Amino acid sequence: ILQSGGLVAFPTETVYGLGADALHAQAAAKIYQAKGRPSDNPLIIHICCFEDIKKIVTHIPQAAVRLADAFWPGPLTMILPKSEAVPYETTGGMDTVAVRMPANRTALALIREGGGYIAAPSANTSGRPSPTLAEHVYEDLKGKVPLILDGGAVGIGIESTIIDLTEEAPLILRPGYISLDMLSGVIGEVHTDPGIAADRQNCRPKAPGMKYRHYAPKAAMFLVEGTRERVAAKINDLTRAAMRKGKKVGIIGTEETAGDYEQGYVVSIGSRQEEEEIAHNLYRILREFDESDVDIIYSECFETPRMGQAISNRMLKAAGHQVIEADESG
Ligand code: TXA
Ligand code: MG
Repeated sequence: ILQSGGLVAFPTETVYGLGADALHAQAAAKIYQAKGRPSDNPLIIHICCFEDIKKIVTHIPQAAVRLADAFWPGPLTMILPKSEAVPYETTGGMDTVAVRMPANRTALALIREGGGYIAAPSANTSGRPSPTLAEHVYEDLKGKVPLILDGGAVGIGIESTIIDLTEEAPLILRPGYISLDMLSGVIGEVHTDPGIAADRQNCRPKAPGMKYRHYAPKAAMFLVEGTRERVAAKINDLTRAAMRKGKKVGIIGTEETAGDYEQGYVVSIGSRQEEEEIAHNLYRILREFDESDVDIIYSECFETPRMGQAISNRMLKAAGHQVIEADESG
């Protein structure tokens, strides 16, 4: 299918991808069509061995070699200057290209058999949470892809960290499992794109995809921030008020706090001690809320030590940056 320019959905360690031959201009166009994705949003090229990078970039900086050594195969995407082998259809018209080597055997075998260069965005319909199960891909893309490879539940559950190596100083364009500290441990100083911070309306993110309201559940979602007791009390108040108006309310808590909620459809995202579990469950829970047709979702915030930046980035986007402060009086 890939060799004839078609689409195949496949598992990776982060989320499911929707693959096509990256060096084939019409194949990339099919991806945009199936996802309903704006064509200015570039795709990540997935490779299966480091040597293969030479064909698609014009220059391999030392930092790229060191990061690949440390984290590939794995959940890290690097932005590098693109070569002429890469069509502009794949890069959304940009002169740079995103490259990643996924840590999943099915994905690596598929890339190898499919010609070595597979463009793959997350395999969701544009605007929905990324798929962490083959069933999610089927929900979004049935009838639009001839093949979905079912590799079971993905390991990580949120998309790869993206680091731009075309700038003077390396810049994180999308936070993920590989944290800023892990990156700077290998290559020294690393910055985060100010455009991805909350409430920076006037500052455009550098990764075109980060400007879209991704990961959005159908219900209106609010994050409630503050100390544990205040958050529970605030969510209970808000839930009571919403239910009085006839609304169906969903609540995202944790193993430790789920019992604090008196009403509403309460879901535990996992233990506060296990940030991997929180990342792993997030998108599945947002999709389940869509099925249960809740009108409003109130969620706790999860400031975890390593993946906290990545998790809150996804949660803020899902909530359209609506944050309620529980500790303020009144
Ligand atoms: O974990 C992942 O990275 C998953 C799996 C399937 O590998 N893929 C993924 O792809 O998340 P996608 O298309 O959903 O997100 C790619 C992001 C978008 O925000 C896009 O704008 C950005 O990468 N991107 C791609 N090429 C870029 C470039 N040349 N410069 C800046 N941003 C780029
Ligand atoms: Mg995506």
